[in-house]
Order: sequence, then structure tokens, then C-alpha cells
Amino acid sequence: MPDIQKISEESVAKAADILKSGGLVALPTETVYGLAAFALDDEAVARVYNAKGRPSHNPLIVHIFRPADAKNWAQVNDLAETLMAHFWPGPLTIVLPKSGKAVSQAAGADLDTVAIRCPDISWTKAMLAVGFSGPLVMPSANRSGHVSPTTAGHVAYDLGDKVDMILDGGTCPNGIESTVLKIEDNHAVLLRPGAIPTDAFAPFISDLRLVKSDAHISAPGMLKSHYAPKAKVRLNATDKRNGEAFLAFGPTDIEAEFNLSDTGNLAEAARNLYHALRLLDNVDCIAVAPIPMHGLGEAINDRLNRAAADKKNR
Ligand code: TXA
Ligand code: MG
Repeated sequence: MPDIQKISEESVAKAADILKSGGLVALPTETVYGLAAFALDDEAVARVYNAKGRPSHNPLIVHIFRPADAKNWAQVNDLAETLMAHFWPGPLTIVLPKSGKAVSQAAGADLDTVAIRCPDISWTKAMLAVGFSGPLVMPSANRSGHVSPTTAGHVAYDLGDKVDMILDGGTCPNGIESTVLKIEDNHAVLLRPGAIPTDAFAPFISDLRLVKSDAHISAPGMLKSHYAPKAKVRLNATDKRNGEAFLAFGPTDIEAEFNLSDTGNLAEAARNLYHALRLLDNVDCIAVAPIPMHGLGEAINDRLNRAAADKKNR
């Protein structure tokens, strides 16, 4: 079993020491748990890919502890600056052209862009207080192809001894990954709907559109079945068939194995989604009730569509 410790000044200081010396630490964020390594350490970054079983062509997000650090790694233009001022720290990842200075080559999958995020979580301040300012690469702390972890227990189940330490910060409040925007000049496209709903960007970006996973611009990690559980998934289900487990949303007469939100609250549903998919993964098929497309529903439906994608495409 990995060393699991509750978040405290001492455990965060220990985590910083492990990271500085090339180790791997799983850390909670406001979205999901991440598998962290010091982003300037080639060997540590390689260990992240190994531990997850992640293909080397799928780049990693560089996590900074202070918004101002973005300029160290990326060319920050006016639009990026505005979004950072408004949404950071928080669950927004911005893909930008690299600056002259680079993090580990391995993390970037040979792209000329870099994805940057400044998470809103207390351990960043605690690490800064002990003199460690990152940056960290931090993919979701699951085995590649599984759904993201939202508790320390999920991380331990997926990664076991492959991680040197897990900091336990309880259940992640958002439960779904950061929104990923790619900025080119002063235009932006949506690479991954996530914890910040698309309409929140309307004051800054007109007509933000999702770039489909097969388009050349898209993130390799947006392969359609990236988030797939073992069970089959049937979407927009209004009945429960033989052998199925029913994943409900809102009030229902159908006998449900799990309800993402009894009251039909999308934030609660996002928080519960990956836990529910893990819980029901031992059945043949999960029938999922329709989830509205507005607000966080876009990200929830995106992940459910991936979970339901034909397994031959994996
Ligand atoms: O909420 C999150 O973003 C979590 C927490 C731990 O911070 N992290 C996360 O990382 O979801 P990961 O590696 O599981 O997903 C990152 C996504 C992948 O789809 C990857 O392909 C994409 O971001 N990405 C990373 N760098 C990119 C780049 N330069 N261009 C396009 N997409 C990129
Ligand atoms: Mg992931």
C-alpha cells in the first residue's frame, strides 16, 4: 500500500521533499486527484507515464502555484492574461505557445504548445511556504483508460505502490477535470469541456466552440474512449433492462443503483460521476438517465459519451 497521509503542514512538506528528489506524489485538486512529478525532472516525468501506462504522445498539463509563473513557460497574450486574471487559481487549463524556457521534453510530447493550469488548492501555498514553487506535471491519478480519481482511495486502487505518497484531502469538490482552452492569437477553442461551464467564458470569448476529437488540433488525450469504465454504458436511458444497473439523475420511479443527484443538481452530479462509474463497474451494462446539456451538463455528457464509446476504438 502507498503511504496515504491527511493534508497537513508536515505531510505537505514531506510531499515537497519527495517531489524535489524525483518521486511521485498523488495530490488532490479542486477537480480530481493528480499524479504529480517535478516538471523539470526528466526521469520523474518518465515515471509518471510508466505509472499510468500512458502513451508518450499524450502531453501533460504543467501546474503552477502562482498565476504569474505562467510567463516562465508560455507566451501569454492579452486574451490569456484576461482569462488567467478571471479564472485562476481555478479549474481552467490554457494551451499556449511555449516560451523559450521549457519543462521536461517528455511532458510536452514534442508539441510547440504547453498546457498550463494554476489549481485552487491549499497545498500550493504550503509548498511555497517551504520553498518549493514547482512547477508540477499532474495528469489525473488513474491508470490510463480508467476514469479519474476523486478520492485518495480511488488513487490507491488504481496506482498502488507506483506512487510514493498520496496526500488525502477528502473528496474533490468539482469531481470533473478542468476545462481546457487552446488560445491562438486572440482566438480560443474548447479542447475539453470541464469544471468551468462554457457559458462562463461568454464575456471574454464570443462563439467558443468545441473542437472534435478527430480534428488535427485536438489533444491526443481526447480520444473518444479515454474515460471508459469496463462496463458497457447505455446513454439517455428511460428504462432499466435485464442485467443493467441504473444510474439516475433527479427524481425517478426506476429502481436506481445510484442517483447522481436526487434533486437534479448538475454540480452534485459532476461530483458523484466518477465515483458512481467506479462503483457500478462490475455490472455488464450501466444504463444512464438523460442529463441536460446546459452548464456542467456539457462536461458530464462529454465524459459519459466517452465512457459509452465503442470499445474497439480504445
Ligand atoms: O483537472 C485537471 O486538469 C486534472 C488535475 C489533476 O489538474 N488533470 C488532468 O490531466 O486532467 P490529464 O493529463 O488527465 O488531462 C490533460 C489533458 C489531456 O487530454 C491532454 O492531452 C491535454 O490535456 N493536453 C495537455 N497538454 C496539451 C497541449 N499542449 N495541447 C493540447 N492538449 C494538451
Ligand atoms: Mg486524465
